[in-house]
Amino acid sequence: MIRLRVRAPDGTRRPLLLGPGALEHLRRLWPREARAAALIADRNVMRLHGAPVLRLLRRCVPLVRAFAFPPGERSKTRATKADLEDRMLAEGLGRDTCVVALGGGVTLDLAGFVAATYLRGVPSLLLPTSLLAQLDASIGGKTGVDVPAGKNLVGAFHFPAAVLIDPRVLRTLPERERRCGLTEAVKHAVVGDPALFRLLERRAPHLRRPGPLDAALVGAAVRVKLAVVARDPLEHGPRAVLNFGHTVGHALEAASGGRVPHGLAVAVGMAVEADVAVTQCGFPAADRDRLRNLLARLGLPAGHPLPFARLAPFLAADKKNRRGALRLALPARLGRMAGSRDGWTVPVDSSALREAWDRRRTALRGRSP
Ligand SMILES: NC(=O)c1ccc[n+]([C@@H]2O[C@H](COP(=O)([O-])OP(=O)(O)OC[C@H]3O[C@@H](n4cnc5c(N)ncnc54)[C@H](O)[C@@H]3O)[C@@H](O)[C@H]2O)c1
Ligand SMILES: [Zn+2]
Repeated sequence: MIRLRVRAPDGTRRPLLLGPGALEHLRRLWPREARAAALIADRNVMRLHGAPVLRLLRRCVPLVRAFAFPPGERSKTRATKADLEDRMLAEGLGRDTCVVALGGGVTLDLAGFVAATYLRGVPSLLLPTSLLAQLDASIGGKTGVDVPAGKNLVGAFHFPAAVLIDPRVLRTLPERERRCGLTEAVKHAVVGDPALFRLLERRAPHLRRPGPLDAALVGAAVRVKLAVVARDPLEHGPRAVLNFGHTVGHALEAASGGRVPHGLAVAVGMAVEADVAVTQCGFPAADRDRLRNLLARLGLPAGHPLPFARLAPFLAADKKNRRGALRLALPARLGRMAGSRDGWTVPVDSSALREAWDRRRTALRGRSP
């Protein structure tokens, strides 16, 4: 079992437990002041993994209530949040309630935001069940919902009382969701852990399926994110490095009208941005090639046929842009990001980005029959 401590902005240290059987430690890590539990999960996860968690919760507190909502990003809204809150209030759940979020990133963001504002704030416990949630969304205290103007635009920082990560729940995760999580593992390796990158390279074919390596994979990726968040808990600067692959990725996600899911869009984004890094900040071409190979071996795309012009308007609206100039979080080498002297992003010409995008498009065409 991996035991870590996460420093919250108020200086307290919150436990993070990772390993097979982590959920059984729920009682030991239960926030002492809480006498009621509100379990929040989407319907898929509630059906697959809700019952054992409810049993464990009944051993912690006398009052346990479960609240399910329809699965998917479309539920990450103010409306779902309000609905959950109203149902919790109707059950008479008071300030001594702990919100227990069981699920993927959607559930963690949504239930975490409920916890942040319910009766002006109650503690939360995070039990991530998707690979992406285990190695990314469960770390860093960001919660929130999507609004018509964009994703994640309304929310709060709310650090959980504890995070319990049990890799065994990944056995039921659909393959496509697993690939999206692998993308973020690759990102964390590029951002801060060359050894994780080598592990991914060595074990790529095995990692496409759930297995005994999952705890090590999640553990290493979690440590990278924890280190970045520790330097910048409230996202004033250095945390920008976590945007590697995401500027182009978000633009592709948006330009495709959501047809390219986040994880796959970010894989394409990393391939394109790594190519830009070679010309703009001395990222070794050999490292870029290793990244492309790794993506391919993990079953992740490294290019997309959409013309660059379709992405351009979304790139122009990126929130990292300063004075109209596009800025990317780019690697200097595998495991180290560039831009330490300038807010951890690098100004990039839109033409350099277009050329890199087009090179990946052409490579794609070259490969197809
Ligand atoms: N807060 C953060 O720092 C942070 C970081 C990264 C991503 N996010 C957010 O995370 C969200 C994406 O997360 P996601 O990809 O986990 O999406 P998700 O929560 O929608 O989960 C994906 C799908 O997998 C299902 N699922 C989850 N665990 C399962 C399991 N063990 N077995 C079977 N099915 C399972 C869910 O029901 C859902 O259908 C986005 O909204 C993104 O903004 C937040
Ligand atoms: Zn992402």
